[in-house]
Amino acid sequence: MAAASPPLAPETEPQLVCELTGVTKAFGAVRAVDDVSLDIAAGSLTCLIGPNGAGKSTLLGCISGFHFVDSGVVQIEGHDVSRWPPHRRARHGLATVFQTTRPLAELDVLDNAAVGAHVRSRTGFVESMLRPPWQWREQHRVRLEAREALAIIGLDERANDPAAVLPLGQLRLLAVARALAQRPSVLLLDEPAAGLRAGEKTHLVDALRTLSGRGLTMVLVEHDMQFVGALADRVVVLDRGRVIADGTPAEVRDDPQVIAAYLGSTTL
Ligand SMILES: Nc1ncnc2c1ncn2[C@@H]1O[C@H](COP(=O)(O)OP(=O)(O)O)[C@@H](O)[C@H]1O
Ligand SMILES: [Mg+2]
Repeated sequence: MAAASPPLAPETEPQLVCELTGVTKAFGAVRAVDDVSLDIAAGSLTCLIGPNGAGKSTLLGCISGFHFVDSGVVQIEGHDVSRWPPHRRARHGLATVFQTTRPLAELDVLDNAAVGAHVRSRTGFVESMLRPPWQWREQHRVRLEAREALAIIGLDERANDPAAVLPLGQLRLLAVARALAQRPSVLLLDEPAAGLRAGEKTHLVDALRTLSGRGLTMVLVEHDMQFVGALADRVVVLDRGRVIADGTPAEVRDDPQVIAAYLGSTTL
């Protein structure tokens, strides 16, 4: 007998993949993230902006599990993950592209991407290198997923090159591919465009647009407003740990509170 199909969600209530409620994280006397509540809808691309030290990276860390919240709740697909360690959240569908990522220089591009696919496999990456031949099937799956991730990101032609020879722009794309190979439901990116040249930024924007078009939910920290404007449906502005604006790129750009937060800064 066929299973009953689930009730359709009303169109006015988008499915939430990530819900933050009253999230607070302090380092000593500094409230890096201060009572932040945010709902992230499935398939959305949210840009988190704000001056240096506003708490953007800390907030991403609270979602990924790199930081445990002091108070508040982090929910992923309806599960309270607030007390889960990062690896458990990763297996549950969270992937992060960190601000600085170094490839495993001695491996080729494909094997670097495959590291991501191992997050979900039973054995770790190093064990898999020592795997007996009867476990080839798992290995085959991992490499297929890694190759697919490279193709989505436009790096498939470099699959067999040593990662050490890639320029910064392609290394950043490789970091995204590695995260994608985890097959995440939410991808967190911390300043993925930092240090890239204009042409490299364009490639990254294209790649992220492709992912967005495929329905991947993304939360991206960035302060290049041109980059943000080219990508985001929604911009959330943090200042001193608090959300001071939340809207479309045009809405936040004209918000007096946002302009004040950025006074003296040339990034907006
Ligand atoms: N591991 C840490 N230990 C102590 N203070 C930290 C740590 N991480 C961040 N902070 C402080 O928390 C605040 C927010 O930092 P961060 O989240 O890195 O800001 P952003 O990413 O917006 O630049 C800053 O005042 C920073 O100095
Ligand atoms: Mg940061």
